[in-house]
Amino acid sequence: MRIDVLTIFPEFFGQVFEFGIIRRAKLAGLVKINVHDIREFATDKHRMVDDRPFGGGDGMVLKPEPVFAAIENIVGTSEKAAYEAGTRVVLLTPQGKPLKQAMAKELADEVKHLVLICGRYEGVDERINQALATDEISIGDYVLSGGEPAAIVLTDSIVRLLPGALGSETSAVNESFTSGMLDYPHYTRPAEFRGMKVPDVLLNGNHAEIEKWRRNEALEKTRRYRNDLLVGENGEM
Ligand code: ADE
Repeated sequence: MRIDVLTIFPEFFGQVFEFGIIRRAKLAGLVKINVHDIREFATDKHRMVDDRPFGGGDGMVLKPEPVFAAIENIVGTSEKAAYEAGTRVVLLTPQGKPLKQAMAKELADEVKHLVLICGRYEGVDERINQALATDEISIGDYVLSGGEPAAIVLTDSIVRLLPGALGSETSAVNESFTSGMLDYPHYTRPAEFRGMKVPDVLLNGNHAEIEKWRRNEALEKTRRYRNDLLVGENGEM
C-alpha cells in the first residue's frame, strides 16, 4: 500500500510512523508513507493555503487550488472518476463518516493507494470534497484543531491490518471490535502484585474455563462501557 498525507503542518508527522507495528510494516515493504506540504503546491507569490470564508464567519478555509494541484501531482488526475481502481482520496473532517474497525478493514483489504487530506477545523473549501474526495471520514464525535491526528489514527488502524503487519495472523481476530465486543482483561506475571491477585481461573490451565471467563468479562465490560455495541444504535438486540 502507498499512503500520501497532505497537510499544512508536515513537521507534525516527524517520527509518528517510526515505531512498533507501523515501522515494522514499512521496513517489511508492506507500506510506503509520504507526507506532503500543501503549501509546496501553492503557486501564488504568498503561497496562500487558506482564505476568509465567502458569506462571512469565523476562521479561515483551506483553498482549493493547492489541494487540486497536489492531487494532480500525486494521483495523476483531479478527476475522481479517472482515479485508478484501488485509489481512495480521504478527507478527514468531523463531518465525515465515523471510523469503525470494519471501515479500517475494508480500506486495508481494498486500497492500493490511499491519499489523506488533513482539513482545518474552520473548514475546507467544499469543492475539494465534491471533486477530489472519494471518502470523508471522522475519527469521532469531537473537534480536533486539524485532520492531522485523525490521519495518524486512520493510518495506524489500517496499516496494522495489512497482511503480515502483526506478529501472528490471529492477533487481529481476537481484539476489540472485530468480535463486536470489547477485549477481555489481560494479566501477566507476577501472579500477585502489591496485594492484587490474578484471577485463579487464569492460573489453573483449564482452557475451557479460561475461554468462558474471558467471554464473560468481555461481555460485562462491553455492557458497562459500550452497551450500544450489544443493542445496536436503535436499541435492538
Ligand atoms: N478534524 C477535526 N476534527 C476531526 C475529527 N473528529 N475527525 C477527523 N478529522 C477531524
